[in-house]
Amino acid sequence: MESNNQKKVLVVYYSYDNSTKTIAEMIANETGADLFELVPLEESGGKRVKYMWEGESVIMNPNPRLKAIPDKMEDYDLIFFGTPVWAMSYAPPFESLLNSTRLYGKNVALFCTHEGLMGIVFQEMINKLKDNKIVGTIDFYDPVGSGIEYAAKAGRNWARHVLKSVIEP
Ligand SMILES: Cc1cc2nc3c(=O)[nH]c(=O)nc-3n(C[C@H](O)[C@H](O)[C@H](O)COP(=O)(O)O)c2cc1C
Repeated sequence: MESNNQKKVLVVYYSYDNSTKTIAEMIANETGADLFELVPLEESGGKRVKYMWEGESVIMNPNPRLKAIPDKMEDYDLIFFGTPVWAMSYAPPFESLLNSTRLYGKNVALFCTHEGLMGIVFQEMINKLKDNKIVGTIDFYDPVGSGIEYAAKAGRNWARHVLKSVIEP
């Protein structure tokens, strides 16, 4: 990891099948970031939606309660948000996070993993983060098929450039 010039960096991600997690870990390692995984609470009651993708089905509230949300996000200079694409949008835990936190004036970078139908996932996230500065976006198409190590390394290189652009605007 290179020195990040004392910038405080946070990587927040959700991952169901670990691809986004692998990339998030690589980005955090590269940028010296704190790493935070969003974990939805499994509840027996409440709204339940079946999300389907190629034979895989996941039942989750579209706005699930989270085990925890990141502490003091306002203290960070740069925040990466990473999500798999679900139903052509970001995964439900991000709906919960973005609805429950008000971020202003932060440098924010977005990454997602998907299998070819990413819809307008970044635009939807950007709409929720409209008071912040979007300093980068990157999507990883089929990170397992194309090699998760390869994708994670691409994520690492991207993250290095994003951080550099924040340190030396
Ligand atoms: C419930 C569910 C819904 C999905 N919906 C989409 C979709 O709309 N478009 C797409 O390209 N991929 C979709 N996928 C595939 C994931 O985005 C892709 O496999 C991603 O890399 C998984 O990330 P993860 O390993 O971090 O969970 C879906 C996967 C699941 C489990």
